[in-house]
Amino acid sequence: MVSRVIPVEPFDLVIFGGTGDLARRKILPGLYRRFVAGQMPKEARIIGAARSDLDTAGYRKMIHEAIHEFIAEKDRDETLVQEFCKGLEYVTIDAMGEGGWKEMAALIRQDVIGAFYFSVAPSLFGALAERLHLHGISNDTSRIVVEKPFGRDLETARELNAVLAEHFEESQIYRIDHYLGKETVQNLMAVRFANVLFEPLWNAQYIDHIQITAAETVGVGGRGGYYDKSGAMRDMVQNHLMQLLCLTAMEPPSKFEPNAVRDEKLKVIRSLEPVEPHHIVRGQYDAHEGEPSYREDAGDLKSRTDSFVAMKCHVANWRWAGVPFYLRTGKKLADRASEIVVVFKEPPHHVFDADGKVHRNVLSIKLQPNEGMNLSVTIKEPGPGGMRLMDVPLDMSFAETLGDNADAVPEAYERLIMDVIRGNQTLFMRGDEVEAAWSWVDPIIQGWEARNDVPKTYDVGSQGPTDAETMMRRDGREWMDIKA
Ligand code: BG6
Repeated sequence: MVSRVIPVEPFDLVIFGGTGDLARRKILPGLYRRFVAGQMPKEARIIGAARSDLDTAGYRKMIHEAIHEFIAEKDRDETLVQEFCKGLEYVTIDAMGEGGWKEMAALIRQDVIGAFYFSVAPSLFGALAERLHLHGISNDTSRIVVEKPFGRDLETARELNAVLAEHFEESQIYRIDHYLGKETVQNLMAVRFANVLFEPLWNAQYIDHIQITAAETVGVGGRGGYYDKSGAMRDMVQNHLMQLLCLTAMEPPSKFEPNAVRDEKLKVIRSLEPVEPHHIVRGQYDAHEGEPSYREDAGDLKSRTDSFVAMKCHVANWRWAGVPFYLRTGKKLADRASEIVVVFKEPPHHVFDADGKVHRNVLSIKLQPNEGMNLSVTIKEPGPGGMRLMDVPLDMSFAETLGDNADAVPEAYERLIMDVIRGNQTLFMRGDEVEAAWSWVDPIIQGWEARNDVPKTYDVGSQGPTDAETMMRRDGREWMDIKA
């Protein structure tokens, strides 16, 4: 299998927050990989911009170190790392003031694509958009990439949309949700819309329920300040999990084009029923076997922030009537495992003598780790002695299927940045989508605040609070094990 790399057009990419954690950990290493893959034209330039008083040589050194830290030795070629870093520039910039903007204006070419990545605190988004415009740095073909969090509720998201709209058209605004850049997430759309096998079954008649899990083993150490004001609901559910839900539940778009796809996702969000309080379990990890508690990590021993959320939702439309979607995400859980699991109904009539076991087809789409898909199929247990049934997996692991090319699968950020340069917004959120997501999430959070809700505790390394299991059992169902 040959991986196909189509070089993009020349560009100037400015990364505001270029010395920050995301830039060093994900964005720059991702760009290095695209450089190695041959996707970047010689004329492309990457410019870091931040408050730090660095010069270009200092920045190149910083990113050289970051690539060494975040890209495994086997995937690095020192000559190429040096060549990549030699192409980097740096400008010290004052986002709220005037410092550095003249230098930036002198640097940015007007005859190539200009992309401006806002990897900074959301309070600076508006100021950056305004200054890019006022200093004549951006033009009609420029794009801005806006990191999460996009607001902390409907009101702030609306304000942010309005501020950005003062200087940029919607077609120039790329609201990033890195989950949409994950290989398997896009594969979900291929599976649904490029096969005849699944789509006829993809509805309430054949599907019992759907589980969407994003489980992490990391805690909030180091990010406590931000996280404690957000919690799992704002940090993961409002964006990543809702996007996964949309792609799973949406109607087939007429084309794989930005607005066709985003229109369908928006319809899903707008069809979501309000969630009953007893259909949500909030959790917070507790100290276990020497591991600190959430409260210790967050530096607030009275914190009521959720580091775990499990919930049951309903998409109120013809296709999904009566099919629950169970969403679950949390930190410091048993394993890092994210997947979408579609549990089909039992056959309508039992031809074989019941063996006391429930046999159902289950399609799991694994986002990470071990990306791939698995469909469990019921077959006859081999051997004599009657007709006994067993469930076996039809397995499609990316690593196995793609062989040596598995390493060539781009990571979420690198793919999405290349989409920005190509001018393709399909995998980015539109302003109305983000607002609709907040409209659904806001009443849930407001309810917790009004009731002074205290999250249930769960042990570090566990499956989450027992209440989440109970919620499922009440419905006669079980969560899949959180296991990589
Ligand atoms: C980020 C959240 O958006 O996604 C983090 O802010 C979370 O809290 C991360 O850890 C998870 O991303 P991934 O790609 O590791 O699943």
